[in-house]
Amino acid sequence: MSPHSLARIAVVGAGGIGAAAHLPAVVSLSEEAELVAIVDLDETRRAEAGERFGCRNLYGDMAVMQAEQRPDIVIVATPPHLHEPLSIQAMRAGAWVYCEKPLTGSLASADRIIAAERETGQWTVSVSQFRYAGGSQQARAALADGRWGRPLIGVAHTTWYRGPEYWDIPWRGKFATEFAGATTTQAYHAVDLLLWLMGGDWRTVSGIADTLARPIEVEDASAAVVRFDSGAIATLLSTVLSSKQETRLQVIAERATLDLDTLYLPQVDEWSLRRVDEEGQTVVSSEWPEPEPLLEVNAHRSQLRAMIAAWREGRVPEVTAADARGTLEFLTALYKSSAVGMPIARGDIAAGDPFYEALDAAGPSRAGVNAHV
Ligand SMILES: NC(=O)c1ccc[n+]([C@@H]2O[C@H](COP(=O)([O-])OP(=O)(O)OC[C@H]3O[C@@H](n4cnc5c(N)ncnc54)[C@H](O)[C@@H]3O)[C@@H](O)[C@H]2O)c1
Repeated sequence: MSPHSLARIAVVGAGGIGAAAHLPAVVSLSEEAELVAIVDLDETRRAEAGERFGCRNLYGDMAVMQAEQRPDIVIVATPPHLHEPLSIQAMRAGAWVYCEKPLTGSLASADRIIAAERETGQWTVSVSQFRYAGGSQQARAALADGRWGRPLIGVAHTTWYRGPEYWDIPWRGKFATEFAGATTTQAYHAVDLLLWLMGGDWRTVSGIADTLARPIEVEDASAAVVRFDSGAIATLLSTVLSSKQETRLQVIAERATLDLDTLYLPQVDEWSLRRVDEEGQTVVSSEWPEPEPLLEVNAHRSQLRAMIAAWREGRVPEVTAADARGTLEFLTALYKSSAVGMPIARGDIAAGDPFYEALDAAGPSRAGVNAHV
């Protein structure tokens, strides 16, 4: 491969996830990509990242960086409220975007990103790293080919712990900058993975989201019940209040039950498959794990590699803004259901609805009532 075919990548936001996942991913894909610039408002942070990842092109402003470096791909790893403006700006300057989750804070905003994709001919890919982590692609393929029968029941529990100091970072915990809480910020990956494994065809969701214990605006816990077009049902629990920390997914299909017990990143040996044998005994099935072509320690890297391949071949990448909008619509429906006390159906939230303009449109008034927390 000639050096000219390397994808020229810039990372915008060298904070927590930028430095822990994106920058290592780009430099480790040295046969496919070149790190051409790091952008961060914080001068010390960008200098440290430049030193650590061997990059001399350091900027405080993405527009200046794009004018000078003309990257092919811009990674947006900033706080959530900047995802929409930076993604649109990066696409208008001629780059594909790989944007951290949540893609953005409302369906209206997601629609503006989708419109900018059409206008510019570029794509914004939303980080969905659980779909690219060990075992996930095999699980999805096996569920989709029907070998275990139809998926009937799904479970996704994200029970994590975040102490009060977690919200010392100013953008966290506030509607204006984080948009929503545990369900969107922490449980996003488990919710997105379960919907994807179940086939994505959710029909209604009934949810309760509230702030039970942390002094924050956004919710620290939610529970939900989901119905799918196929008739399948699912339950979700998302919280940052649990001293027993785990991410637990289960898909109960007609002839087998698939479990994932993990925390921050699924590994192939954290999946298990059980069947009931002819004597009625539950047995762990040796059908799992399968050969693991995608096993990577850094699943951000797996997704980035897939994106670079699509960019090079001029194909539509996976998990574009339209795909991420599906997960955002689900989350919005969960929050709206909590606010109105009724199930919300897919497609119900449209322009003119306050929930079209904000993921958790009723959250601020709920936060006012909860001010005693
Ligand atoms: N996929 C995951 O597993 C995962 C994990 C953690 C965080 N995230 C997401 O990543 C995003 C960032 O989270 P974080 O924890 O890394 O935040 P952070 O606050 O640690 O880092 C964000 C960085 O962006 C920089 N920044 C802010 N505005 C900027 C601008 N206009 N231009 C350039 N740089 C700017 C800040 O100076 C900071 O260094 C959030 O959307 C978060 O939800 C995803």
